[in-house]
Amino acid sequence: MGSENIDEFINKVIEGDAIEVMRQIPDNSVDMTFADPPFNLGKKYNSYYDKKDVDEYIEWCKLWLKEMVRITKPTGSIFVHNIPRWLTYFASYLNEIAHFRHWIAWNAMGAPLGKTLLPTHYGILWYTKQPKGFKFYDIRGRHPRCRKCGVVLQDYGGKKNQMHPYGPLISDVWTDIHRIRHKKRRDEHPCQLPVPLLERLILMTTDEGDVVLDPFVGTGTTAVAAKRLGRKYIAIDIDPKYVEITKRKLEHTRPTKINDCYVSIYLGKIVTIRDKDWEKIKKVFMIPSDPKKIEEKEITLKKVENASLVEYCSEKNDNYT
Ligand SMILES: C[S@@+](CC[C@H](N)C(=O)[O-])C[C@H]1O[C@@H](n2cnc3c(N)ncnc32)[C@H](O)[C@@H]1O
Repeated sequence: MGSENIDEFINKVIEGDAIEVMRQIPDNSVDMTFADPPFNLGKKYNSYYDKKDVDEYIEWCKLWLKEMVRITKPTGSIFVHNIPRWLTYFASYLNEIAHFRHWIAWNAMGAPLGKTLLPTHYGILWYTKQPKGFKFYDIRGRHPRCRKCGVVLQDYGGKKNQMHPYGPLISDVWTDIHRIRHKKRRDEHPCQLPVPLLERLILMTTDEGDVVLDPFVGTGTTAVAAKRLGRKYIAIDIDPKYVEITKRKLEHTRPTKINDCYVSIYLGKIVTIRDKDWEKIKKVFMIPSDPKKIEEKEITLKKVENASLVEYCSEKNDNYT
């Protein structure tokens, strides 16, 4: 079972086996756990054979899922990212030991080529340790818009004046966060997740200073997202090379705070905010009073903020996301 003290794990990138390391972590000590395990699809990892028998893979997954639930605080959340096939097994196991909240479908927007029913969405299971009293914040993303003309895709009909200037509360289908396509933004890893995906989950379920743990951190996405949002991290991976890359990225990671609120920024745009922060954040935007204008064109950052934000983000995105 767990050791006595969580402090020795805080803000550490640990090279080791996920289950062995988590077994040393005390019960009820982490605010959020997120796992993106190997998918058992034969991917080329540095130091992991990604093609186990189905039974062997599922039994192995149950061991780390059990540890994730054990170490999560009663107010905390457990997230697991995978393909639907494996999530059906995970959900059936997690239903016994935690509380189901949502199955988030993340459409990572692959090219629609190849075959019918080509898998283009991943699932993120969200469980909480207890049925009530867990941390949760309403989250907003930008309005989905036509790529060519910029008009909001959702038809608000006669209720345009109720349309939020920034964007809607997010649903359980996420289409606005894409996989990292450009080589220059990718690490040498076969399945690196985009930082904004993790930032959204972290903003939704944790507070500043909370502890976020990822047992399969790869090249550090979860730890980078946690640090950018003023949270603490515990990052584990079995591969020394990925651990090295994670450490290097973390050295350069800085908080992304606007008007005293942590936000998720990608390529110079604020892509996720907490609803409760809007009153403070809206001060950095130019917001037309006519809702029709908001429907036709995305609200933009005020000039000064815009310049500094873009500069700030492009420096980061070239190297660290
Ligand atoms: C799907 S990848 C995670 C990618 C990560 N989310 C990112 O954005 O970079 C799975 C990771 O699990 C690691 N891994 C495999 N077996 C492990 C184990 N037993 N303990 C810890 N890490 C392991 C692999 O090295 C790989 O980096």
